[in-house]
Amino acid sequence: MEGEMRALETLGNLSGKTVLVRSDLNVPLKDGVITDDGRVRAAAATIEKLTAENARVIVISHLGRPKGEVDNSLSLKPVAQRLGEIIDAPVSFVADTVGAEAAAAVKELKDGAVLMLENLRFNAQETSKDAAERSQFAARLAELADAFVLDGFGVVHRSQASVTELAKALPSAAGLLVADEVAVLKQLTEDLKRPYTVVLGGSKVSDKLGVIDHLIERVDTLIIGGGMLFTFLAAKGHKVGASLLEEDQIETVRGYLQRATELGVELVLPSDIVVAEKFDADAAYEVVAADAIEESSFGASGIGLDIGPESAKLFAEKIRAAKTVFWNGPMGVFEMENFAAGTRAVAKALTEVSGLAVVGGGDSAAAVRALGFADSDFGHISTGGGASLEFLEGKQLPGLEVLA
Ligand code: 3PG
Repeated sequence: MEGEMRALETLGNLSGKTVLVRSDLNVPLKDGVITDDGRVRAAAATIEKLTAENARVIVISHLGRPKGEVDNSLSLKPVAQRLGEIIDAPVSFVADTVGAEAAAAVKELKDGAVLMLENLRFNAQETSKDAAERSQFAARLAELADAFVLDGFGVVHRSQASVTELAKALPSAAGLLVADEVAVLKQLTEDLKRPYTVVLGGSKVSDKLGVIDHLIERVDTLIIGGGMLFTFLAAKGHKVGASLLEEDQIETVRGYLQRATELGVELVLPSDIVVAEKFDADAAYEVVAADAIEESSFGASGIGLDIGPESAKLFAEKIRAAKTVFWNGPMGVFEMENFAAGTRAVAKALTEVSGLAVVGGGDSAAAVRALGFADSDFGHISTGGGASLEFLEGKQLPGLEVLA
């Protein structure tokens, strides 16, 4: 796995120095309001440590995927305000990244103060496929500061200007969040305590192929829920009505079922499904056996939107029996109350594990908070969705490699 990373301390005395901190403040927004501020809260520790040392802190991040153009609905301004509330200190904001306005705002920055720049992805060079373009953007960002701290764990799997090129352009180190995430996730890959159970959900199995491939040889139990479960049911020869199905992955999934049997890995699929008349929060629904989805009163147009109560109970038992658990991806359409029970049961079971229980970022982190759980209920909630999955896949992550 990854070698040792340069820790924050290796940057020496930062008092009076200007430090660029690359956080991952890519938070969900609804009508300009942050609906889950987990990533902002997670970013606070490094920023507070630096301001306590009297550094001048410039926070940079992306938000969404604006494709190199200014999109005011993806401005970081509301995030700057939220960060200020969380660290209980003013966070100034400038709607610029490498232009004259940003340079002027940086010049005004006092020791111990915090400034946030605008969404990095408003500039096409940030995510350019061309390394020279990315380096150019990174060089302009680097001109603003004396040192760089990479603290956005959610982007360490990205080769983007503000991640990899910027780390090469300035004296750089890992922030506290990145160090903490790596330390926890390493416990899932090295010397892990067994039984080791991984719970995967979310809509697409095609997003999880790498992780299933890698983990199937390492876990004791693999539990499958979410939209992707229907491709597993189809691979077993069951009809799934109008549920999410990736026909082109059926063969691959059949291979996983076979490998699990050969390896003696317990692959747990739901035994019952909540089938709805349509994809709607108020749709009529019924619970049916997983191998009889089309036998609901909605016939072949019935759509599976959650695992059923019997499955939720079974999944919870398996999770509680484990000593190490990693969970990524909701079990059903948790945003709709009628289809949230499976995700809620899995989240609850994770809070009851007498070992390490890790919630892998993105949707699952948002789900547990939306369902009323507190971060402290879990061993660890990763801020990285894609990043934590790629870490578990054993991939070399560019943002971590560059800090080695
Ligand atoms: C995430 O949400 O997983 C990170 O912020 C990375 O975002 P991206 O997938 O748009 O690069």
